[in-house]
Amino acid sequence: MKACEQKQSVLVWDFPVRVFHWLLLISFSGAWLTSESEAQQMIHYAFGYSSCALVVFRIVWGVVGTRYARFGQFIKGPREILTHLKALLKGKLHQGLGHNPLGALAMVALMGLVLLIGLTGYGNVKEFLGDLMGEAHEFIANVTLAVVAIHVAAAFIMSLVQKENLVRSMFTGRKHGLPEEAIRFPQYLIGLFLILAWGYFFYLVVSSAIPELTQ
Ligand code: HEM
Ligand code: HEM
Repeated sequence: MKACEQKQSVLVWDFPVRVFHWLLLISFSGAWLTSESEAQQMIHYAFGYSSCALVVFRIVWGVVGTRYARFGQFIKGPREILTHLKALLKGKLHQGLGHNPLGALAMVALMGLVLLIGLTGYGNVKEFLGDLMGEAHEFIANVTLAVVAIHVAAAFIMSLVQKENLVRSMFTGRKHGLPEEAIRFPQYLIGLFLILAWGYFFYLVVSSAIPELTQ
């Protein structure tokens, strides 16, 4: 039997990766929507810091998580990224179920940028370096929004090119692949823990229970 005939729906993204992604979208959007209102300042801080907390979790999960969640699986050096790009331009798609090397670059950049937004937001609250922190904060937030726009466009375009709905995969965790490529454990408990920890952390920041971060 040919490999393509054996292909079926297999689990690729564990539950914590999916929870991380959609909570990050909620937190990042929440921080944007509340960024200009003084009345919603604490909500802005809470969404902003929760975005950073999610990234910190994801960094740990990138080391100890399941197969496709691990950084070693998708972070590639410049040479491999270039080879992938050249192949892509010739119409050859990335083989394998994880993130493609170019997409992974944008995703790692997004995680780093979110941490930088948080750091400059904190500097802003603490009034380090006068107006500079505020300006850096707004500038980095704008750069991140531009990268998000590219990332979302790429997700839709690659879905069309690969004939596989990548956005749906980020919800279901499933892609079309060989049975032996699947991950075995969805890690529901850790994902559930992440949802609860995110909610609790949001509550702590919004209720000023961690004044070191917000005053
Ligand atoms: C992903 C997270 C975040 C995003 C996207 C974001 C975005 C923004 C943007 C766009 C502004 C400028 C608003 C304007 O037009 O005046 C702003 C202002 C600000 N943000 Fe954030 N922010 C985030 C996280 C944080 C965090 C963690 C803090 C830390 C407490 C923070 C503190 C502030 C402060 C103090 C201001 C200045 C408000 C003012 O000068 O009126 N932000 N943020
Ligand atoms: C409607 C908005 C969004 C859509 C449709 C979307 C879609 C996706 C998809 C389909 C993937 C998996 C790509 C693949 O199969 O290789 C992904 C991964 C990722 N996205 Fe998004 N995304 C959105 C918003 C965001 C935002 C706002 C951020 C960050 C600020 C973000 C950061 C990431 C990161 C870090 C990953 C890697 C996930 C991981 O390995 O844990 N995304 N996104």
